[in-house]
Amino acid sequence: MPKKTSFFIEALKDFKRVGSFFPSQPALIKKIVRLVKPVNGMVIVELGAGKGPITKALLEKMPAKSVLLVFEVKEEFADYIQRNVKDKRVRVICDDARNAGKYLKEMKLGGADYVVSAIPMGTSNARENLQLLLAIKKMLKAGGVYIQFQYLLSSWREVKKVFGKSKIVSFVANNVPPAFIYQCVKERSESAV
Ligand SMILES: C[S@@+](CC[C@H](N)C(=O)[O-])C[C@H]1O[C@@H](n2cnc3c(N)ncnc32)[C@H](O)[C@@H]1O
Repeated sequence: MPKKTSFFIEALKDFKRVGSFFPSQPALIKKIVRLVKPVNGMVIVELGAGKGPITKALLEKMPAKSVLLVFEVKEEFADYIQRNVKDKRVRVICDDARNAGKYLKEMKLGGADYVVSAIPMGTSNARENLQLLLAIKKMLKAGGVYIQFQYLLSSWREVKKVFGKSKIVSFVANNVPPAFIYQCVKERSESAV
């Protein structure tokens, strides 16, 4: 029998990584997914999928011909998604988000149209966040969009440093904890940093 996976218990064990005691709730998920415009053949990279609430909502919106690469560093969560999300468009990869570019290359997928990230940046330092942001920029194709939610905007300076075109698009008060959503575009003139 598959073991039970509790988001709350995983957060108690490793709060730095999990970043919250609760999975994202419908109001937040809806606002994130609304920012994605479905296009045939699109590639989306999701970072920090947890038990997959955003994964499922993205799949509802994505066309039949598309790919969703899901990165989750915690084995418990990656296994949970593997067991519970059966969809041929999805590849679940249990690895650090910063390695996503390597997988895109190996799978010959080119760059991502969207990176949708839930990785907690408020529990990491500026250097770690900068590393992650640079990796995200590298995995996006020119014109690609990076969408992130955050409970705190402590990493906003680093975000602005890496992405010229970035804006806070929403504040979702009816999520626990409340969250900001921001969106950044990798401009066509910019290559990976
Ligand atoms: C705030 S939770 C969000 C979970 C889920 N996406 C949701 O919205 O409910 C952050 C998730 O990011 C994962 N995570 C943290 N650092 C990561 C990293 N460097 N690479 C991949 N996943 C990471 C955590 O294990 C956790 O599942």
